[in-house]
Amino acid sequence: MKEYRLKSDDFLVSQTDEKGKIIFANDDFCKIAGYTLEELVGKPHNVVRHPDMPRAAFKDLWSTVQRGEVWSGYVKNKTKDGGYYWVFATVYPMHDRATNTKTYLSCRRRPSDQEIRDAEALYKTLS
Ligand SMILES: Cc1cc2nc3c(=O)[nH]c(=O)nc-3n(C[C@H](O)[C@H](O)[C@H](O)COP(=O)(O)O)c2cc1C
Repeated sequence: MKEYRLKSDDFLVSQTDEKGKIIFANDDFCKIAGYTLEELVGKPHNVVRHPDMPRAAFKDLWSTVQRGEVWSGYVKNKTKDGGYYWVFATVYPMHDRATNTKTYLSCRRRPSDQEIRDAEALYKTLS
């Protein structure tokens, strides 16, 4: 399957509600994942989940942000046309006190070749 290698100035942002439904994605995210914003909004974020990603990574992501902490890690995502791309993601828990709404925001940048190799090797040992 075809890899899209992020460029150094690619910066992919998405935001979910408390359940992980996408409420926002920026242009880089839409373009690289291969979806329009309209196609993404309202979908669960696992729409871009790649089968090579271990469950343990997302379990760790969710338990960290639900505790109100920031999670960082490497994620392999799939594109709409069946390709994939690696990102280094940082996920922030957000709390809008005015409306008492909790959301999560993920910001993703290009990982180095070595970081991708290390993440691939680590994820092969996890399930
Ligand atoms: C803000 C935010 C961003 C996320 N981004 C991704 C992502 O880019 N790719 C992905 O596979 N899962 C992402 N997730 C995790 C998904 O919600 C989901 O847990 C994961 O895809 C595994 O799917 P499953 O829970 O159905 O097994 C994100 C979650 C949050 C809160």
